[in-house]
Amino acid sequence: MANEDYIIRPAEIEDLHQVMRINQRTLPENYPYSFFVEILKKFPKSFLVAERNGEVLGYMMNRIEKGLPGVFTSHLRANKGHVVSIAVLPEHRRKGIGKRLMIEGMKAMKEYGAEEFVLEVRITNEPALAMYKSLGFEVVREIRGYYHDGESAYLMSRKAENIQIS
Ligand SMILES: CC(C)(COP(=O)(O)OP(=O)(O)OC[C@H]1O[C@@H](n2cnc3c(N)ncnc32)[C@H](O)[C@@H]1OP(=O)(O)O)[C@@H](O)C(=O)NCCC(=O)NCCS
Repeated sequence: MANEDYIIRPAEIEDLHQVMRINQRTLPENYPYSFFVEILKKFPKSFLVAERNGEVLGYMMNRIEKGLPGVFTSHLRANKGHVVSIAVLPEHRRKGIGKRLMIEGMKAMKEYGAEEFVLEVRITNEPALAMYKSLGFEVVREIRGYYHDGESAYLMSRKAENIQIS
């Protein structure tokens, strides 16, 4: 999973302080340490970091949720891979790190049985929307007032079947 000077690898508990710092620096949605630990313990293969010489440049964390049928999964108890949070340090953006985290994260969620991937994104978050669309995500609907500051989210979704697990 190496690319030029950074690697994409599963996160380890020791990475979480750097992950939390990136989360706090780049997103309004922040979580307590225990939340990161819980996701890492439950879904270690799909909690990924981009790392260079010990520095975490970006992360992606996900969980598998069994729930109501999705857009592409009509049966009850569908396995959905939910992108909980992804961020790349501002000084390392537009180098393909976000996209590589997404692709490797989707492969790992598929290994956990995800049939469809879902995520929420602020309707004004143009970089993230562009990245998700470039990866085949489509807007399912708008969720009005989804965020604590009142901004709305787009619920986006993508089938898992055409992600290749190499
Ligand atoms: C969204 C984010 C993770 C993208 O990370 P990144 O490493 O810069 O993304 P990539 O370099 O892999 O870009 C992949 C594609 O996304 C699109 N994209 C990314 N940033 C963009 C921007 N600022 N404007 C327009 N398109 C953009 C492009 O299509 C890009 O491909 P290209 O560079 O070949 O044109 C990053 O902007 C970020 O951390 N934002 C703050 C946190 C955040 O909003 N997370 C998502 C919450 S839902």
